[in-house]
Amino acid sequence: MVNLALDISKVFDFVSRDEIFSLQKEMTEHHKALLNRTGKGGDFLGWMTLPRDIDENLIQSIESDARRVAEMADIFVVIGIGGSYLGSRAVIEALSGYFEHFRSGREHPLVLFAGHQIDEDYHHDLLEILDKRDYALTVISKSGTTTEPAIAFRLLKSHLEKKYGDKGAGERIIAISDKSRGALKNLADIEGYKTYVVPDDVGGRYSVLTPVGLLPIAVSGFDIRELLHGAEHMMKLNEKSSIFDKNPAALYAATRNALFRKGKTTEIFVNYSPALSYFTEWWKQLYGESEGKENKGIFPAGASFTTDLHSMGQYIQEGLRLLFETVLLVDKPRSELIIPYETEDMDGLNYIAGRRMHEVNQMASLGTILAHTDGGVPNISITIPVIDELRLGELIYFFEISCALSGYMLGVNPFDQPGVEAYKKNMFALLGKPGFEQNTTELKKRLKG
Ligand code: PA5
Repeated sequence: MVNLALDISKVFDFVSRDEIFSLQKEMTEHHKALLNRTGKGGDFLGWMTLPRDIDENLIQSIESDARRVAEMADIFVVIGIGGSYLGSRAVIEALSGYFEHFRSGREHPLVLFAGHQIDEDYHHDLLEILDKRDYALTVISKSGTTTEPAIAFRLLKSHLEKKYGDKGAGERIIAISDKSRGALKNLADIEGYKTYVVPDDVGGRYSVLTPVGLLPIAVSGFDIRELLHGAEHMMKLNEKSSIFDKNPAALYAATRNALFRKGKTTEIFVNYSPALSYFTEWWKQLYGESEGKENKGIFPAGASFTTDLHSMGQYIQEGLRLLFETVLLVDKPRSELIIPYETEDMDGLNYIAGRRMHEVNQMASLGTILAHTDGGVPNISITIPVIDELRLGELIYFFEISCALSGYMLGVNPFDQPGVEAYKKNMFALLGKPGFEQNTTELKKRLKG
């Protein structure tokens, strides 16, 4: 049974149901190309069957490593960038309690992230914390050559070796990379680290259901089997049909493209729970890197409401009318808080006394959806009953499949990311990396103006 509910009724003032459903024929062709692996990027579709194909031995090995890490460490550092960290971070933050750093007596290691930027203070402060705590780490890079995680790994590897000796450090490092290529794979082989493989046919941003995402999620104490079950539900649903009434991922892809063709070029992914902020970040990468190419693509933005209603709300309500919203709603929070009654009612809140805080959040979301549609911002809503592993698995697969279909509707290859190289070439030239010096003088001149 699939648990997420997609509601597109609040786009009909902008694009009619008939207009959206007229895309069914086109969608069926894209869906066929995807399932038959005959479309653009057909060599990178391994993620589509991961929930079914994943080997039981691999799951057991990940679960056993998670237990091993929990025995020796109270912090687990995930080193990676882009698709190598956003999926696990999205799931871990969605499922963890808030303020985990302050919780004592934790059963599972606290997962921290590194190498997803090159900020000196961040990594310095992290090393200071790690001085005083037992930790282990995973370094994740499919290519094995990405600069940001490579620098962080060099720093943490040397720190671990000083702290635990070479052998002890080696036992605390798990490398996740390509099966045969790249500097990280070579290093892992020489040092004898435990390794996991990122399958050849799974790109970084589609890799959360491989060891890339599953290992950190398991170390955090969450049920990776349930996550995979959720994804499997959605996979089976997608495999059965491309008919919009039966396949919400196809309908979502068609709806956002219908809006795009009407000039709604920016999609804001909205959550009403800060636990979902990193899910938004994962979604942004998935859609941004998959669709933004060849001068095409819906710009993926993110917002956390009601927080951002007090910063971005004005623009969304009355700024340039290029926007549409996709709101992720959750029926039930995991806890219950009642707003207290005050005899004096100085703050005027007694009209909601005795009611749950969640009810206020729900009314804020419904009120905002109506206000924004009135203001010219079409709304797509996706509702899940609760935030748990099963529903997150469904959501992950739902967004992956709709992203692939949506990319095909836009006419791009949703599985490559050629544009990511441009900044790297310039950074390497400015740093004087061998092989890149030919551009150094020209770039320095341009920077001077
Ligand atoms: O989706 C992608 O392929 C990228 O975002 C990569 O995940 C990111 O650039 C990190 O690459 P790598 O895992 O090779 O270090």
